Amino acid sequence: MNRRRVIIDCDPGIDDSLALMLALSSQELEVAGITIVCGNGPAEMGFSNAKKILSQMGRLDVPVFLGAEHPLKREYVNALDTHGADALGESFLPEAFEGVPQKGAVEFLEKELLQANCSVIALGPLTNLALLIKKNPEAYERMEELVSMGGNFRSHGNCSPVAEYNYWADPDAAALVYETAAKLGKKISMVGLDVTRRIVLTPDLLSYMKRLDRKMGAFVERITKFYFDFHWEWEHLIGCVINDPLAVAYFVDRSLCDGREAYVAVETGGLTLGQSVVDAEGFYRREANAVVMTETDPLRFFQMFFGRILSLKEEQLDLLPDLVRR
Ligand code: BDR
Ligand code: CA
Repeated sequence: MNRRRVIIDCDPGIDDSLALMLALSSQELEVAGITIVCGNGPAEMGFSNAKKILSQMGRLDVPVFLGAEHPLKREYVNALDTHGADALGESFLPEAFEGVPQKGAVEFLEKELLQANCSVIALGPLTNLALLIKKNPEAYERMEELVSMGGNFRSHGNCSPVAEYNYWADPDAAALVYETAAKLGKKISMVGLDVTRRIVLTPDLLSYMKRLDRKMGAFVERITKFYFDFHWEWEHLIGCVINDPLAVAYFVDRSLCDGREAYVAVETGGLTLGQSVVDAEGFYRREANAVVMTETDPLRFFQMFFGRILSLKEEQLDLLPDLVRR
């Protein structure tokens, strides 16, 4: 099988962790490394969480690099209210590494992207990629593909009425990444809240997971419990929206999301800070720099997600069609 080489740039993070688990269980991907950006938690916390997930998956061979510790311009605002004090659902898993975190996320991105056909799946604020553009625009240009979990089109925001966290946390970085894509004639796959909001891990799905694989189910329960409580308290939702794994799933299988090409710009100030402005009607007469996802199939997503992280075949997941919210 031709495996696609990919770097996962992320801020783990509960749903980032689930996304890493999916990526590491996907034969189609060769995860060249994990680069960490500050976001849900401070970068060092994200580094430590990435190692914990790698340890759980038996993949401590995958290198992890510490990246930006603050956004380009604005003050850093974490999302520990959503992800818990350890950014991993207050699971307080034991540390999986000793010493000081390995620095050099931007340098690693630069080296890998210049060397080989390599893509990036970005699951956090786009600060590391913006720093890469400033350091070596050619490396960004050579990137095979960029899939970004972030932004929103018709769906409302999750940090303000109009803005999604990853773009809101570092709007200047997001703006630069989209502007540069426009200049280079590239198209970013924007896997935003319009589609990720449909991916709801419910208590029933979690119970099913535990029935199928007690150990893995218990692990997922341990890291998502806080997320469930947060969603109940703030969104009156029984379950939790797991955004980031959909970006990985889409990278593996294009048929999981569908969307429209459009020019996208990100607002860097004022009331609408961080909003992804999608010019769906072509007002600006500019070439598309993104494919904005608007449709997804939650059942097929969960078939992939459960199938892979639990190492089961689709036919062994016979209850999923009754349990997935559509
Ligand atoms: C995004 O923000 C973070 O809290 C999640 O990890 C996800 O990447 C959703 O808005
Ligand atoms: Ca994230």
